[in-house]
Amino acid sequence: MAGGRGARLSFRTMKGILLAGGSGTRLAPMTQVVSKQLLPLYDKPLVYYPLSTLMLAGIREILVISTPRDLPLFQSLLGDGSRWGVRFEYIAQPNPEGLAQAFVLGRDFVGSDAVTLVLGDNLFFGAGFGGQLRDAAARVSAEGGATVFGYRVRDPERYGVAEVSPDGRVLTIEEKPTRPKSSLAVTGLYCYDNRVLDIARSLKKSPRGEYEITDVNAEYLRQGALRIETLQRGMAWLDTGTVAALQDAARFVEAIETRQGMKIGCPEEVAFRMGYIDGAQLERLAAPLASSEYGAYLRRIAAEAP
Ligand code: G1P
Repeated sequence: MAGGRGARLSFRTMKGILLAGGSGTRLAPMTQVVSKQLLPLYDKPLVYYPLSTLMLAGIREILVISTPRDLPLFQSLLGDGSRWGVRFEYIAQPNPEGLAQAFVLGRDFVGSDAVTLVLGDNLFFGAGFGGQLRDAAARVSAEGGATVFGYRVRDPERYGVAEVSPDGRVLTIEEKPTRPKSSLAVTGLYCYDNRVLDIARSLKKSPRGEYEITDVNAEYLRQGALRIETLQRGMAWLDTGTVAALQDAARFVEAIETRQGMKIGCPEEVAFRMGYIDGAQLERLAAPLASSEYGAYLRRIAAEAP
């Protein structure tokens, strides 16, 4: 990374934002008193999955954004991050006015660094994903620009949609188009250089009354600085927006975990494998969870380590 063109530009730390706001109305009454991202997805809170994704990207400073009502619950679940070898900060989003607001609220936290945003209800899983993500984050840190991740879906009209040229360049990007130009949905994971702070601040609300992340991406596209990484079909990108989708995702996690005896979206394990914590700390984390299958898993991972 230090050589070539990147050497002209200074390398920025990559920070992370986990956006866990929203009112979860499509999941009511389950979300009547608790945030959607704290609901269980099979054997762990939903937020563990996107959190693991950021940690797998090598990101160790993470801002958690949620509603004023739910933020204390996230704080009591996740703490300051030190036990996982990372650092969490928290900020409330008083009114959910769109994903791009994350960068207005997170301006001080991001400072002069680069930032990766993950949506608190997105689940990514697949071989090679960690490396692909770390490469993208490193490139944005060193060279600037923005990278989004595309995934082929049957129903692209539900998402941001990218049209890509045969040589992999983004041609257009649209939010929930009635006539999608491709099947490539833009997933809820975005790596940006520092200019995202100013781009987000200058946005106007969309017709649905939100500061759209797609408008941020469209501005990077206009500036010739938007890249897309396609996640291959062997990867899973699951969304949890409806009861049916939440159940499907839980069944997927159950099937893989039961078959392999390995967990998906386990932040303690990611912290350990990424070298943020050592085996002794992993065992300490397992102790208070000893009577759950999750705690037994952490102990096994610590014991199996070479
Ligand atoms: C948001 C984004 C959309 C993206 C999706 C991924 O949609 O606006 O571009 O494809 O997340 O989960 P929303 O969840 O707000 O409907």
